[in-house]
Amino acid sequence: MARRVKRVFFTLAFFLGVSLTSSDDIKETEATGKEDDGRVEQEALTWPPIGVTLEDDPSLWPGHLKPIGANVPNKEVKVLNGFPPPEVFLRDYAIPSVPVLFKAAVTDSVAFKTWNSDEYFRQFPEAGTQKHLIETRKKEIRTQPPTDMTLRQFLDRYSKEDIYMVEGVPKFLRKDVPMPKSLLCEPLTRMLVDTVMWFSSGGTKSVLHNDDVDNINCLYDGKKELVFISYQRYRNKVTLDHPEGSYSSMDVDAVDFTKFPGMREVEYHRVNMSAGDCLYIPYRWFHQVNSYGRNIAVNVWWEHNLRQYVEALSEGCGDLAEDSTLNDFQIEPPSDSSEQGPLMELHSALNAIKDKAVTLEEFEAIVKKDKLLTELITWTPKCSYAVKEMFEAIDRNKDSVLSQEDLEGLTDEMEEELDEVLMENMDDIMNIKNDQVAQLREAVAAEVAKGQAESYVELVKKLLDEGRTTIGDSDEVIGEHGHQEL
Ligand SMILES: *[C@@H]1O[C@H](CO)[C@@H](O)[C@H](O)[C@H]1NC(C)=O
Repeated sequence: MARRVKRVFFTLAFFLGVSLTSSDDIKETEATGKEDDGRVEQEALTWPPIGVTLEDDPSLWPGHLKPIGANVPNKEVKVLNGFPPPEVFLRDYAIPSVPVLFKAAVTDSVAFKTWNSDEYFRQFPEAGTQKHLIETRKKEIRTQPPTDMTLRQFLDRYSKEDIYMVEGVPKFLRKDVPMPKSLLCEPLTRMLVDTVMWFSSGGTKSVLHNDDVDNINCLYDGKKELVFISYQRYRNKVTLDHPEGSYSSMDVDAVDFTKFPGMREVEYHRVNMSAGDCLYIPYRWFHQVNSYGRNIAVNVWWEHNLRQYVEALSEGCGDLAEDSTLNDFQIEPPSDSSEQGPLMELHSALNAIKDKAVTLEEFEAIVKKDKLLTELITWTPKCSYAVKEMFEAIDRNKDSVLSQEDLEGLTDEMEEELDEVLMENMDDIMNIKNDQVAQLREAVAAEVAKGQAESYVELVKKLLDEGRTTIGDSDEVIGEHGHQEL
């Protein structure tokens, strides 16, 4: 039930996560090479700043109304030559959740060798027939439906107009795109959810946002500059004031500390990509992306699940062909038929058990088994509270059991309202889960840094087995901070 929650966030994050600057900005930047495009000037930095504290007026903090991360020392992003094997990727990056740049990882690919030319794309008959969704420049994409055009029509227009293609990789191009070697692990390939092609003439500037999935992004043409903020460390400092789309309304060229005071306290990891490079963008890490010049990227999204990553390491990866392409995998993008809410799933769940009435305890057991929650580390009283809220909303005749009767005669409006309550409460539990996983990662990283754990993964395994998120006796109450009160 409520798989939809994830899908809503996921889809919106990817549609709203990007807005284009005008093509005039692009030209100016390229012509003058001036530092007025959000790139941060290198200054001599004193950190933390002297003579100002977090108690002072936030506007006094250095960096106020400057580009994101200005006046803060950069943290680096690890760089590897090419992709490591999946086991290494899981152990060192996906399980601890840290970004990494795979330098020149796809320079041998057909996409890298051919996608720098529009003529290559034009030659495919499908480029003249298949329609694709093309985003038009709009701050709020929700209110402006994308238009559709063929790839050839897009190619005629993209360098002159503010349009960009953000779409599943067209079928006829999938064979050109290698499956990142670090994902060639059977348990991981079962977790793939979507691949998307990002094609523009450059000058895109995204908002600060995060995604509900893990991601490897490969760049086949152009340059990108990214800035990351750690989710596990700073999830309570970064305000995504548009939670429905997992993004922040902050102006990334002029960050207002009076509106976003938490931004004074975070650290920034910066990384640049050139054509042929791939980047691991970890689940929920906050990021902001600028692109320069004709830009084509493809990213592969897969479901994040710490428990499954740990299991994949012990299961082993099998032997998938090294030269696998996107064409070799059946990747099912999340269905976005908006009719399919948690209520529909509930309907079918109740249908399946026919005449039986479901008690609160039984309902809680059903929710606990939800696929979305397999990553939850321990069930807390707040989880039970959310379940109770859902139960009471569904139990319209107040007979303290759920049955078909409760769902009979609902108007569309009532269904929508009920769906809303279900999604909100599932979301509360998801937030508790996210917090637990982040807390565990921080605790393990600290232990490893102190030299008190021989292996990150072993310690993660141990804590998962014990249903704990902290180390030592003082197991602090989890899922209590940072999120809205239940
Ligand atoms: C990224 O590229 C820009 C522009 O060339 C440069 O100013 C900046 O220092 C680079 N950043 C990193 C992390 O390499």
